[in-house]
Order: sequence, then structure tokens, then C-alpha cells
Amino acid sequence: MEKTSVVYNGVSVKIYGTADPDKVIISFTDEISAFMKIKRAVIKDKGRLCNGISCMIFRYLAGKGIKTHFIEQLSDTEQLCRKVEVIPIEVIVRNVIAGSMAQRLGLEEGVVLKSPVYDLCFQNDALNDPLINDYHAIALGLADRKELDEIYSVTSEINGYLKEMFEAAGITLVDFKIQFGKLPDGTLVLDDDVTPDSARLWDMATGEKLDKDRFRHDNGKVGDAYRTVYARLEKLLEPCE
Ligand code: TYD
Repeated sequence: MEKTSVVYNGVSVKIYGTADPDKVIISFTDEISAFMKIKRAVIKDKGRLCNGISCMIFRYLAGKGIKTHFIEQLSDTEQLCRKVEVIPIEVIVRNVIAGSMAQRLGLEEGVVLKSPVYDLCFQNDALNDPLINDYHAIALGLADRKELDEIYSVTSEINGYLKEMFEAAGITLVDFKIQFGKLPDGTLVLDDDVTPDSARLWDMATGEKLDKDRFRHDNGKVGDAYRTVYARLEKLLEPCE
């Protein structure tokens, strides 16, 4: 399928329109960024690894009955997806305290939460995706009560499936960010991607970080960490062609 226009020109992902108005091509780059895109680098092979990881995860979730925008993997770095109307809310799921939750609340990183925490963030790069709550989401017209209820319910299911999958791969799913969109008929679907860029993944045996925190904190071996996640998921799940 031919790319027509550029729909979104991000650092690690570019989205292209196609001749079919209902489909887009998502293309993963080797670039990585953090701290409001101020810190940037190129990690060789990262586009292939993130595309592969996200394809495997989306196929796994679809197999569990989760509705997603994913159609098929087109190449090492590209996937074909349904075009959606993006709901501009980032949903963060936390199973273990880390990152901004640890900082904001003065809590120790690594403590397992008694139950998952769901944070909503208003998707706005310039404002660094500020934390909001249900009242903001409804009052700003980002989503209505019914949509939020469905988002929370599907998010809880997704968390259950992903925790189980990563645990089978010897990885603790500490936290992750997901996004939803609506198909033309109004169906809510999981969109965006799930990769070590947007999730905290810790090796269950060693505690080693296998995600973007290695880049944020200059731990090195970012590519190796992403490669480990890819290889473990590939062993567990069939890679998509
Ligand atoms: P969080 O701890 O809120 O922020 P930070 O990454 O700045 O410490 O992030 C929780 C998880 O969600 C983490 O795995 C990164 C991911 N995330 C994104 O991918 N994009 C975002 O815009 C935000 C806010 C979080």
C-alpha cells in the first residue's frame, strides 16, 4: 500500500495516509527522545524492534478479544492500521510505583501497588501531557462518562492480559501508557502502540530495566534492552509477518 500524505510527524513514529481513507501506515524510526524531546538520540534497529514488539502485543491482545486499530505488519518497521479519531487522553496504568508517581507523591520506586492505578493525561506535547481526572475529561469534552467507563474497563482487561504475558516472559510490567480512538461507527479501539518507549519493563530475575528509562538515565545498552524484550516475546508469541 502506497503512502500518500504525512498525518503525524513524531520522533519515534511517523503516520502516513494511504489511498484508502480508512487506513494509515505507522512507521517506526530509530530515534528516541525524552524530557519533552530535549534529549534525543538514534538507537540502531530501534524502529524494527518497537514495530515488532507492538505488532506482537497487538496481535496477542486481539486474540484475547480486545478491539484494536491494528491490521497487519507491512515490513520490519511499518504496520497498517485503521484510521481512528484519536481520543486525546493518555491512559497510564501503574502496577508498581515508579517515575512521576514516585516523584509526585514522594514514594519509593519499586513498591508493588495494592491495586492498579489509572492516571489520565491530557495529550498536549507543549504542556508535557498534564495529569487530569474524569471531571476534566468530561468537562473539556474529551470523552463522556460512558466512554470513560468503557476505557477503564478495557484498560483493566488489557493490564491483566499484558501482566500475564510479560510475566511469562520473565518481565514485570511496572507501568505503561495506552491510547484509544474511535472508528467511524463509534467503536472504541486501542490505538497507538505498546513498546519499551511507553512502558516500564523490569527483568523479574535481576531487576534490570528493559525500557526507555535506560535512555532517560544514561544507563546505556538501550538497544540491547529492547532486543531482550523482543526476543522474549518472540519466544512466547508468534511474530507477525
Ligand atoms: P510517568 O511515570 O507518568 O512519566 P515519566 O515517564 O515522565 O516518568 O510515566 C508512566 C509510564 O507511561 C511510563 O512507562 C512512560 C509512559 N508515558 C508515555 O509513554 N508517554 C507519556 O506522555 C507519559 C506521561 C507517560
